[in-house]
Amino acid sequence: MEWIDEQQMKTKAMINEASSDEDDTARHPLRTCSYLVFLVSAFISILKSYIVSKRKLLKVPGFLQQQEQEHLGDDGASLAGLPGPASRSHTHKSRGKANKDCNYAKGKWVADDKRPLYSGNECKQWLSKMWACRMMRRADFSYENYRWQPHGCEMPEFTGPNFLERMQNQTLAFVGDSLGRQQFQSMMCIATGGKYSPEVEDVGWKYGLVKAPGALRPDGWAYRFPATNTTILFYWSATLSELEPLNTEHAVTSYALHLDRPVTFLKKYVNSFDVLVLNTGHHWNRGKFNGNHWQLYADGKPVGNGSRLADLNRAKNLTLHSIARWMDSELARHPQMKVFLRTISPRHFVNGDWNTGGTCGNTVPLSNGSEVLQDHSIDIPAESAVKGTQVKLLDITAISKLRDEGHISNSSFKAFTGINDCLHWCLPGIPDMWNELLFAQI
Ligand SMILES: *[C@@H]1O[C@H](CO)[C@@H](O)[C@H](O)[C@H]1NC(C)=O
Ligand SMILES: *[C@@H]1O[C@H](CO)[C@@H](O)[C@H](O)[C@H]1NC(C)=O
Ligand SMILES: *[C@@H]1O[C@H](CO)[C@@H](O)[C@H](O)[C@H]1NC(C)=O
Ligand SMILES: *[C@@H]1O[C@H](CO)[C@@H](O)[C@H](O)[C@H]1NC(C)=O
Ligand SMILES: *[C@@H]1O[C@H](CO)[C@@H](O)[C@H](O)[C@H]1NC(C)=O
Ligand SMILES: *[C@@H]1O[C@H](CO)[C@@H](O)[C@H](O)[C@H]1NC(C)=O
Repeated sequence: MEWIDEQQMKTKAMINEASSDEDDTARHPLRTCSYLVFLVSAFISILKSYIVSKRKLLKVPGFLQQQEQEHLGDDGASLAGLPGPASRSHTHKSRGKANKDCNYAKGKWVADDKRPLYSGNECKQWLSKMWACRMMRRADFSYENYRWQPHGCEMPEFTGPNFLERMQNQTLAFVGDSLGRQQFQSMMCIATGGKYSPEVEDVGWKYGLVKAPGALRPDGWAYRFPATNTTILFYWSATLSELEPLNTEHAVTSYALHLDRPVTFLKKYVNSFDVLVLNTGHHWNRGKFNGNHWQLYADGKPVGNGSRLADLNRAKNLTLHSIARWMDSELARHPQMKVFLRTISPRHFVNGDWNTGGTCGNTVPLSNGSEVLQDHSIDIPAESAVKGTQVKLLDITAISKLRDEGHISNSSFKAFTGINDCLHWCLPGIPDMWNELLFAQI
């Protein structure tokens, strides 16, 4: 089942490469039809790769990185993007009293032979092949054996059973881009211990997460653990903003991207979530906007080319602030809910960008230091967006920045085309730590 999805995504990845398009394609059968020609060439490529690699098709991690190929091309400006300091208003309701004022983002990576939390060879049910570095040609796995230790905070023991017990009768939702999907897959592997778990139910239908006719895949996934009645869900939304087709009669339509309106899925289902983790960041660049035919809208009107908001850093800032304020108003009505804005996941391309030969070839962990000492997030736009709201920051940026060796790099078979993945992470790997920090705060 998962394998079929993979194949679909791989094919779609190729479509994306050819057209710079992405997920909206899947929702529009007409457009999908018009890509038949790409499908054929994708198929031929699959066949070629099969022959070349002389492996079973099932085992070819081949197609490349994935649906998110397009996604490597982020601007990176998002990090330093906007000025404006913000004070971290940590009011984490953590268990220990000692943890009350803990800044989980400040601390140190330490070697730990109890890591990773699951096996990259075993967690086939939930882990996409495109991210399972154990299934690729990578030879060095030392990046798996570290744990994040925040200074002066007690970390609860993070295991599948502990997580599920804590989340009894609850739903954890991730909404965001492929880095959010990585965190979702990591959580599925941790919750199951990476073991085959036939008892876990697919409940995507409850959230409208079903493959539309003609679509290549659903917009997300939802799984329920019957023993504890816990649901873990992911919904794909690269910008967290509402997308509205502008011309439904044409096969290729443009979309109004409403910077100040949360994505429809969130509005519809927010009341069924107990813990919500949002992320966005790597799609805020002209290439993605043009490729997806996204047109900026604010206050229901098109953003003029001369407007301040035409600058995508400012556009993203408006979305982050809008969504934080909207979530804050939802939290006023549902105070038991916990909402996190996950800060941006850092990229590590050196000597070029994703499409100009950039690489991240280091395999030695922590060669640039192991500690984060500053009090503030280096994701200034995200930190300032949650300031003054009840939305918490899941600040993983500086911590992850120390782990340049944890990317997929040139391990995937995509690399022969000269494209390395220094954006997505190997799993198990760095996103496991994001979930560990999340667990400590729920
Ligand atoms: C499962 O949890 C939900 C709340 O998330 C609750 O409404 C439902 O009744 C629970 N179902 C069972 C069988 O306990
Ligand atoms: C979960 O729901 C079940 C059935 O509704 C209930 O018996 C149980 O006490 C609930 N557990 C928690 C932790 O809320
Ligand atoms: C902005 O410029 C582009 C290309 O120059 C044009 O297609 C578009 O209509 C303009 N948008 C607005 C809102 O003026
Ligand atoms: C970010 O957006 C908020 C809310 O619209 C605004 O108050 C703030 O000035 C913006 N920051 C920058 C640097 O544009
Ligand atoms: C990946 O890059 C590293 C460092 O540049 C190099 O040593 C290694 O041979 C490469 N691996 C493959 C499979 O190309
Ligand atoms: C290591 O740190 C130096 C100095 O802060 C910085 O210039 C360099 O980009 C860092 N390298 C990596 C791989 O993060």
